[in-house]
Amino acid sequence: MKRIFISILVLYAAILLWACSGNRNREEAEDDSQLIVVGFSQVGAESDWRNGNTHSMQEAFSMENGYRLILDDAQQKQEKQITAIRNFINQGVDYIVLAPTTELNWDTVLMEAKAAGIPVIIVDRMIEVSDESLFTCWVGSDFHREGDIAVKWMEEHLPEKLRIVHLQGNLGSSAQIGRSDGLKRALLAHPGWSEVFEAPGDFVEAKGLELTEMLLKNNTDFNVIYSENDNMAFGAITALEDAGLRPGEDVAIISFDAGARALSLVMEGKINLDVECNPMHGPRVRAIIEQLRRGETPPKYTYVDETYFDTFNLTEDIMTSRGY
Ligand code: AHR
Repeated sequence: MKRIFISILVLYAAILLWACSGNRNREEAEDDSQLIVVGFSQVGAESDWRNGNTHSMQEAFSMENGYRLILDDAQQKQEKQITAIRNFINQGVDYIVLAPTTELNWDTVLMEAKAAGIPVIIVDRMIEVSDESLFTCWVGSDFHREGDIAVKWMEEHLPEKLRIVHLQGNLGSSAQIGRSDGLKRALLAHPGWSEVFEAPGDFVEAKGLELTEMLLKNNTDFNVIYSENDNMAFGAITALEDAGLRPGEDVAIISFDAGARALSLVMEGKINLDVECNPMHGPRVRAIIEQLRRGETPPKYTYVDETYFDTFNLTEDIMTSRGY
């Protein structure tokens, strides 16, 4: 009798639990419809910077913050981004956030988003469009300024005669255009500076490694590597060390991004200069969306404050507090 009573009690508890979980799911579904839906077309996962940026967006647009984020990784291909934006339009998202691969050829798809009444926020790199009303606003880095910071530092800290290897980011992206532009202008202004090699490494570590190995194999004579991001610099450093050279001494390394892994190499003296490019855009984009929801007009362009790090100004505190 006692056993039957216990069995009934267990069954009753199980039914109660099942009913409660049903309610909870229903409540979640109801809440879900209250969420603000953001479609984010991300460039890819080519670098530490990019992964830090994705993470920052995921944190900012969490369910707890009242958002549903639809993330699309375009694997560094503009066609994939255009398809992603069309999918976001079809899904009727509330906002589209675009981190563009390259600057050109966005007009058509952005006209479609505009016709659907979906605001588009551009983040990180810029776009060039025929009509500025095709996007709501932009937030990101001043890549031309980053190039100028690097060049000024090179003028002040490196010898007069430079034989420079230039590892570029993916061609046509603002990050590549701005950083390359600084170096191009400096090459014209300094008779002692020559560019012995230039090629795109697409911001990827493996390509930085491959290109540097190829140069070493061909006995190319160089004393500086101007790498347009940290990951290509990591690859270049590995190739130099494998060849018995000392990065930072035999060959000066100039890099961009200043992520945690790179800053520890600055500390070790293997990267001479790292110009900061800050990827923590999630809270910035969220603030823009909140402004729009309050009926306010955010500034069309917002540049993020950035600095640079070398062995003279880098501290343990800065290094350990990097979020990317
Ligand atoms: O657009 C920012 C650049 O893109 C970063 O420098 C690079 O690491 C990333 O892939």
